[in-house]
Amino acid sequence: MKIKLTEIKKRFGDFRLDVSLKVHDSEFLTLLGPSGCGKTTVLRIIAGLENQDSGCLYFNDKIMDLPIEKRNIGLVFQDYALFPHLNVFENIAFGLRVRKYTKKEIKERVEELLDLVRLNAYEKRRIQDLSGGEQQRIALARALAISPDLLLLDEPLSSLDAKLRISLREELKKIQKKLGITTLYVTHDQEEALSLSDRIAVMFDGKIYQVDAPEDIYHHPKNKYVAEFMGWNVEGNIGFKQEDVSIGKGKEERIANIEFLGREVKIKLENGIVIRKTRKKDENYAVGDTIRYSAKKVIKLKRNT
Ligand SMILES: Nc1ncnc2c1ncn2[C@@H]1O[C@H](COP(=O)(O)OP(=O)(O)O)[C@@H](O)[C@H]1O
Ligand SMILES: [Mg+2]
Repeated sequence: MKIKLTEIKKRFGDFRLDVSLKVHDSEFLTLLGPSGCGKTTVLRIIAGLENQDSGCLYFNDKIMDLPIEKRNIGLVFQDYALFPHLNVFENIAFGLRVRKYTKKEIKERVEELLDLVRLNAYEKRRIQDLSGGEQQRIALARALAISPDLLLLDEPLSSLDAKLRISLREELKKIQKKLGITTLYVTHDQEEALSLSDRIAVMFDGKIYQVDAPEDIYHHPKNKYVAEFMGWNVEGNIGFKQEDVSIGKGKEERIANIEFLGREVKIKLENGIVIRKTRKKDENYAVGDTIRYSAKKVIKLKRNT
């Protein structure tokens, strides 16, 4: 299913949301932006949990104004929101019972979903006995059980530890591709967005500033917001990547911080410029040293419009 938002507006006090966006059929699109920029609000409007003040929402070119239970959407949130008094089987079966599936159909479907999230034999487990990662996989299974037309995921991995986050995001991507389900994913984590998405919509302060494939967002940010969010250095209207800075010639600046990242080292200068380079044995930098730096490749950035 494809989704379209045309000039969807919503106001909460000083906060103003104003977005237009298209999500293609079977696409994995990520809303990426800092906390408070309006990502969850967009998702809630699409789900029917929130009404927009103005603008139109379309599902497959038809205006969508049905209540949430008629939108056939699968939802997964950060805080799991599984039913704690029901076991794993009953959590996944919940939507199927509401839809009056037969006992046999429910059993088959639950087994199929447990297989998909690789938690077979977990049917009888209690929710409180599951780890965070397992709970999120059950939440995904529950969301997918009803064969939704659209999957909405709001920071589903952000309360998990780093290693689990990476393995679960690989799994999520595989499942999404296998099912071909249109997916709108929300995160503030650029690495997550880059690794998962077919396209990324970068949001700031209630607006979408760029919608592009991950490669294009990373290599060709259009304005300062997007560039900064992708970890670029921005000086005036010029942008350059952390890995595109050489040391030795150019502007003089003092080192404010040094982070060792295994093979690489990240040097932060007092003017905020960040340099990322592979470590060489004979190079030694210390905080407080003055170095000269210059950008190898620069792009011109538009103002934030
Ligand atoms: N129901 C609400 N009532 C009042 N303000 C809200 C409500 N929901 C969201 N907001 C405000 O709208 C802004 C965007 O919130 P949100 O969509 O949750 O952002 P994000 O998910 O990107 O962190 C925030 O300033 C938030 O405080
Ligand atoms: Mg949010």
